[in-house]
Amino acid sequence: MGSHNPNIKLIVDGKRLDGRAFDQLRNISINVGVLENAVGSAQVIWGDNKVVAGVYGPRDVFPKYQQKPDKAFIRTIYSMATFASIEEHSRSGPNKRSQEISFVLSEAFENVLMVEKFPGKMIDLHITVLQAAAGTRLAAFLAGMAALIDGGFPLNEIAAGVSAGKADGALVLDLDKAEDNFGQSDLPIVYNSSGEIILLQMDGKMTRDELTESIELTSAKSKDIMDLIRKAVERKYAGEVKTELNFR
Ligand code: CDP
Repeated sequence: MGSHNPNIKLIVDGKRLDGRAFDQLRNISINVGVLENAVGSAQVIWGDNKVVAGVYGPRDVFPKYQQKPDKAFIRTIYSMATFASIEEHSRSGPNKRSQEISFVLSEAFENVLMVEKFPGKMIDLHITVLQAAAGTRLAAFLAGMAALIDGGFPLNEIAAGVSAGKADGALVLDLDKAEDNFGQSDLPIVYNSSGEIILLQMDGKMTRDELTESIELTSAKSKDIMDLIRKAVERKYAGEVKTELNFR
C-alpha cells in the first residue's frame, strides 16, 4: 500500500469514492476450467483485477533438495504481467514483492490442500495477474483455490479472503486502488471454512477494536466468496460456462 495522505478525501457524504457502502465488496466473478493444458484452472475478475491460475502436477520434485518425504511441496508462483498496471508498470514483473506474495500464498495453500496425500511430489500453482487494481494477492488466492478445486485435488477445507482497512477514518472492506494507496491501513485476511485464519498481513495502523471488528466483518464476507467458488464449479459441471478464458 502507499502512504496515508490526509488531503485526499476517500469518503464523501458517507460513501466511498466508487459509491460502495463501507462493508460492500467489489463485484467478483469466477470461472473454472479455463485452460486446456492445466490439471485445474480458474479465472477471477474482482473489481478491476483480472487474474488467471493454472495448477500442474503432482510430479517429481525438481530441484530434488526441495523434496519433502512426508508431503507434497506446493510451489505457488504469483506474477504480475508487465502490462498489469498502467501507472506502475515499471515496478511489475518478478521482484521481491511477487516473491513474498508467492511465499505467503504457498503457505496458505499448504493448509488447504491434503499435502500428505502426495509424499515426495510437487504441485505447481501458477497465478498471473493480468490487470491489477488493489487486492491482487486475495484475487490470486481465490483463483488458485478455484483452480485446485477444478483440478480435483483433495482438500482439507475450502478457503477465501478479503481485505479490511481504514480510509478517511472509516473501516471499509475490500479496498480499491485509491483506498489502498491513500488509506491508513490495509489488512488482507484469508479464512478456511472452519473460520481459522490461514493468511494475514497488515500495512499501516488500526486500533485493537478496529482489528477485532475487521476480523468479524471479513470472516463473514469470506464465506460469501466461498459460495461463489462452489457456484463456479457447479456452473462448469452444468455445462453453463464456456471453458475458455474470457475476460469480458
Ligand atoms: O495487490 P495487493 O493489494 O495484494 O498488494 P499491494 O502490494 O498492496 O499492491 C496494491 C496495488 O498496487 C496492487 O493491487 C496494484 O494495483 C498496485 N501495484 C502495481 O500496480 N504494481 C506493483 N508492482 C505493485 C503494486
